[in-house]
Amino acid sequence: MNDTATRFRELKRNGRKIAALTAYDYPTARLLDEAGIDLILVGDSLGMVVLGYPDTTSVTLDDMVRHTGAVARGAGNTLVVTDLPIGTYGTPAEAVASAQRLVEAGAQAVKLEGGAEVAPQIRALTAAGIPVLAHIGMLPQHIREEGGYKVKGRTAEEADAIRRDAGAVQDAGAFAVVMEIIIHGLAAEISPALRIPTIGIGSGDGCDGQILVLHDLVGLFPWFRPKFAVPRAELAAPLAQAVREYAAAVRGGGH
Ligand code: KIV
Repeated sequence: MNDTATRFRELKRNGRKIAALTAYDYPTARLLDEAGIDLILVGDSLGMVVLGYPDTTSVTLDDMVRHTGAVARGAGNTLVVTDLPIGTYGTPAEAVASAQRLVEAGAQAVKLEGGAEVAPQIRALTAAGIPVLAHIGMLPQHIREEGGYKVKGRTAEEADAIRRDAGAVQDAGAFAVVMEIIIHGLAAEISPALRIPTIGIGSGDGCDGQILVLHDLVGLFPWFRPKFAVPRAELAAPLAQAVREYAAAVRGGGH
């Protein structure tokens, strides 16, 4: 088992919850590191909150490489995990080749979306020495087929599939698993049944940790915020106010 996997299992054994956030650039990564976050995810949510696409399906490996480099330069000793974007991990060999580019850019681990169907990719990555954060439940890279963000695990069939996926990614070697918008009771049932930590997003407090898109935490994407995100700051308004004051000062002949 690699160091990352050992460390995360230990956190879980000790009942120490994991606090994770996304970052996409150097200053944010540096601020997150200095604030003591446990894990920085260079998420492919980059596509939406930084690049201005409607979803994550236009994000490329080159995008992720570029932003991983920026984050890694600011992240200090904090674990940097980067998303493998859509279309870059169709086979185990492709997953390893794509992940190696992210590792060269500074990622210490990668995340990919899917359950039992991506177990061969998780096995290959782990065998290649690249730690894997799995991601089950709602899968944003499949948003177009799904027709929107939908809570997962409502039906008995769906709940069973999620239980199977959780076991499959653990057995394949993932060091932890993100569970996105899963019925809270189901997430609370799965979490203690796994040896690896679960990191929830919109899946309730029964998970072993939580992750959020930074922009949702600090109010930097005011046009859309998921219902489950609890904002701790509202930075869009003071930013706009500073811009208005600056523009007025300049137009008045000052600076
Ligand atoms: O891309 C992302 O930011 C993510 C998190 C929301 C888990 O996958």
